Amino acid sequence: MHSFATRKRPKRYEKDGKTKEDAAVTTQTTEDETATEDLIDPIAELPGFNETESRIAVLGHPIHAMSVAFPVALTFCALGADALYWWTGQTFWARAALWAAGTGFLFGMFAGLSGTAELLLVSGIRVRAPAWTHFIIAVTLLALLGANWGYRLYGYEQAVLPYGILLSGLCVLVVGFTGWHGGKLVFDYRLGTSKGI
Ligand code: HEM
Repeated sequence: MHSFATRKRPKRYEKDGKTKEDAAVTTQTTEDETATEDLIDPIAELPGFNETESRIAVLGHPIHAMSVAFPVALTFCALGADALYWWTGQTFWARAALWAAGTGFLFGMFAGLSGTAELLLVSGIRVRAPAWTHFIIAVTLLALLGANWGYRLYGYEQAVLPYGILLSGLCVLVVGFTGWHGGKLVFDYRLGTSKGI
């Protein structure tokens, strides 16, 4: 059965005077051996499939890869500050959590913009489904980071327990997943890298 992703090249049976049945018998082994080679991935055949090198870069270094460290670290800081507020009861930590959540969201938006530009401008990234999966996970993360910040703006101390710290915990889970998936794009699919070297 043919899938959406792969199809087989059409077979020409009645070549050189052979019947369909004769050809089926004599070519069976060859077909089995070459079946894998015959499969065509229509996505891989698109022009620009192998062009995956970063365009949003400084001297060849992708801005997205450089900027994601900040939202990742700040998301963890927000959870840490929430936990310390819970433990010590000091207002300082609730304020620290507000700042960590806010700056985490803003740096996340910057990382998201550079990633989105990369996704839309680089043909080899644009045609790959995993890049769009990463986009969906990352946008979910940005919505959560924004909610975690916005919720605290109406009273950052009262916001921490219980919903602030729960939101921070959820953000840590989703940022971990986003970062892990982003790493797959780079290290498994080699997106953003130059493959020729
Ligand atoms: C919102 C839209 C986003 C898009 C479209 C996007 C797209 C991409 C792309 C195409 C790559 C491959 C490397 C490159 O070409 O630069 C990548 C890598 C990565 N992304 Fe995103 N991204 C987005 C947001 C985020 C966010 C918010 C985070 C985390 C806070 C994140 C974490 C990562 C990580 C950790 C990598 C691997 C970087 C490396 O190891 O070099 N991404 N992303």
